[in-house]
Amino acid sequence: MTAKPQFPKASEVVSELLSSRQSVRGFLPDPLPPATIDRLFSMAQKAPSWCNIQSWRVSVTSPPQTKQLSDVLVAAAKSQLPKPDIDFPLVYPEPYNQHRRRCGGALYGAMNVARDDKSGRYDAWLRNYELFDAPHVAIVSRDKRLGEYATLDVGVWLGMLLVAAESLGVDACAMASVAAYPDLLREHLEIPEDELILFGIAFGTRDPEVPANAARTTRDDISANLRMTKTKA
Ligand SMILES: Cc1cc2nc3c(=O)[nH]c(=O)nc-3n(C[C@H](O)[C@H](O)[C@H](O)COP(=O)(O)O)c2cc1C
Repeated sequence: MTAKPQFPKASEVVSELLSSRQSVRGFLPDPLPPATIDRLFSMAQKAPSWCNIQSWRVSVTSPPQTKQLSDVLVAAAKSQLPKPDIDFPLVYPEPYNQHRRRCGGALYGAMNVARDDKSGRYDAWLRNYELFDAPHVAIVSRDKRLGEYATLDVGVWLGMLLVAAESLGVDACAMASVAAYPDLLREHLEIPEDELILFGIAFGTRDPEVPANAARTTRDDISANLRMTKTKA
């Protein structure tokens, strides 16, 4: 009989945070205490990056600015075509398409929006630009002069921020959707012209009554993503 492997306590704590975290798409209006916001971004600030260049640049809103920004974004979403700084994917070959469809199915299912309910789907999509009623949004950008690895740095930072948020009881949803209108974000938040807008993060405290928050995603077994190479004899 092989003994069950034992892992350090810290690994159990991090594993629990990674498992319990989920995207939250409906928030209570109450702003977070400034000390919590400071703690959240201070924790994420420890993220590693290429040559430690610390490429993430972050503009954070609080009430009433968050609602003002969301009003501007909703108006744009209703009247303008998306023009993101970084192209949104148009094609999802398998198995990615299957994952994407399941993710949409989980969300629309929780929201009780049927596949052929065009206006329900439109309203659900618009919720992105309403920033899911979050009291705060962080708009995340990086210097245009840096190459693709700088985007990778910011992705690492995002992952760490989401785990830090979970440890603090802060709910969040990363949102590429808001990056559809970068010029508007640059202008409204005075983000320098030489920065690419990558994504937003809506954050605050979840509203347990919002149906979208019941959506759950799954993950493949690691064998779908991992190639364990064998040593050649
Ligand atoms: C870079 C990035 C961009 C995302 N953009 C959006 C978005 O625009 N709208 C949205 O509702 N969710 C968005 N998400 C959330 C994903 O849909 C979500 O992480 C995924 O379905 C897995 O679900 P989970 O976060 O609940 O585990 C984004 C996530 C990431 C990492």
